[in-house]
Amino acid sequence: MAIKLAVIPVAGRGTRLIPLTKSLPKEMLPVGRKPVVQYVVEELSRSGLERLLFVTGATKTAIENYFDLDVELIDHLRKTGKEDLLEELAFEKADLQYFYTRQRRQLGLGHAILCAESFIGNEPFVVALGDTILGVPSKANIVRRMIEQFELKKADAVIAFEEVPESEVHRYGIAAPVSLRDPEVFRLARIVEKPNVAEAPSCLAVASRYVFRPSIFGYLRDTKPGKNNEIQLTDAIQAMIADGKKVYGVRVLPEEHRFDIGNFGSYFDAFLEFALADPDHGEEVRRKMESLLNKG
Ligand code: G1P
Repeated sequence: MAIKLAVIPVAGRGTRLIPLTKSLPKEMLPVGRKPVVQYVVEELSRSGLERLLFVTGATKTAIENYFDLDVELIDHLRKTGKEDLLEELAFEKADLQYFYTRQRRQLGLGHAILCAESFIGNEPFVVALGDTILGVPSKANIVRRMIEQFELKKADAVIAFEEVPESEVHRYGIAAPVSLRDPEVFRLARIVEKPNVAEAPSCLAVASRYVFRPSIFGYLRDTKPGKNNEIQLTDAIQAMIADGKKVYGVRVLPEEHRFDIGNFGSYFDAFLEFALADPDHGEEVRRKMESLLNKG
């Protein structure tokens, strides 16, 4: 059965990006020519998803406005002879349906997913974190590969992974594979949220994309607050594994490298790479950067 539903959690306040995120959702920060969340939506659309539920919060109305059809703007561009810019708004017409619900209390990622339960009903679904772009300039098809594995293995969950340096394991969900006979697709023996290096079972970090059966909701309901006193999605996944459910990992390709727009370091990193890859301005940016570096 083709998977058509995706949940995009965007409720987090983005405290590591204050003051930028005081009134602007971190998912709306520009990376190159587009806001972060547009790359996420385009990736899902390419992967065959059709109905997208954003789990939002009080400061996130800009996201809703962004994906709305802006008839007035379209009209204005036509009347003022700026038809060439209409192409930039083509995403408004994509064959996608948008839905929004609020996570009314900041109780963690697991709780945000639980807010989607009545929307999802009885179908498998994708989760894509709204603050993470995969690949420059975002050609990732990891979600499609994950859905293929989900169906092939009759899995209960499939999760994207990327290897990170030891110094970064404390930022992510980290998994222990049963074996790495096939390093691209592996069954999970254990997963732990943001471990310190000594406790980390590997350097395989959750890379912001998941496919679930709706059975995840039962586990989420039973999940107690964990790391940082939040209801962690990772803990619900660990409970599935402990119950003998089939949970698999799929590794992202090098060209699907994750840009986590959750802190200034990775935000600057993403902006630079996307600016350099810009078809019209990339060369100019490169020359400017080279001349700035040579000055030093
Ligand atoms: C969340 C998840 C974590 C995952 C990370 C990036 O953490 O809890 O397991 O590795 O996203 O995909 P957050 O970045 O929201 O703190």
